[in-house]
Amino acid sequence: MTYSITYSSRTGNTKELAQIINENLNNSMYYGEHDIKALDADRLYIGFWTDKGTCDSKTIEFLKQVENKEIFLFGTAGFGESEQYFNQIIDNVKSIIKDNNKIIGSFMCQGKMPQSVRDRYIKLQNDENYKKYQMLIDNFDKALEHPNNNDKSNLIKAIK
Ligand SMILES: Cc1cc2nc3c(=O)[nH]c(=O)nc-3n(C[C@H](O)[C@H](O)[C@H](O)COP(=O)(O)O)c2cc1C
Repeated sequence: MTYSITYSSRTGNTKELAQIINENLNNSMYYGEHDIKALDADRLYIGFWTDKGTCDSKTIEFLKQVENKEIFLFGTAGFGESEQYFNQIIDNVKSIIKDNNKIIGSFMCQGKMPQSVRDRYIKLQNDENYKKYQMLIDNFDKALEHPNNNDKSNLIKAIK
């Protein structure tokens, strides 16, 4: 069984997960950002960041090229703390993957977002929408510590 670890990461969270996978699996054929070189392996560990409830566009383009492989999906999302939310994202990503592939597992955790997102929430928050934006701000602050060591050890468990 040969394998590759390939990812898309805009701000580094998903790359951190890819590094953990790379450290815990020996002799990958390819490790790096999405590239057709990764397609030489039998099994692909494919990482994405969440954009509008599904994987980012670079991962969508990459997934379209994947055929007859074993796939392990891993991703990060700004919102978290809910398995249901993560499952929904994974289902959306799965729907892009061709049927001749076999999905052998998946892992998701929260990932910190840029400070500009919090600044925007603060600007938009007013008396009428106070609660909604406070929830978003609280979520943003929670995300700041992710991916954390607990996420990383859960990822290791998921790939073993
Ligand atoms: C343009 C944009 C859109 C995003 N859309 C979502 C989203 O729909 N749902 C979500 O949970 N997080 C969303 N996020 C947050 C990122 O998925 C999250 O911060 C992720 O960990 C970034 O991963 P990266 O550091 O590997 O790029 C979005 C971030 C950006 C910049």
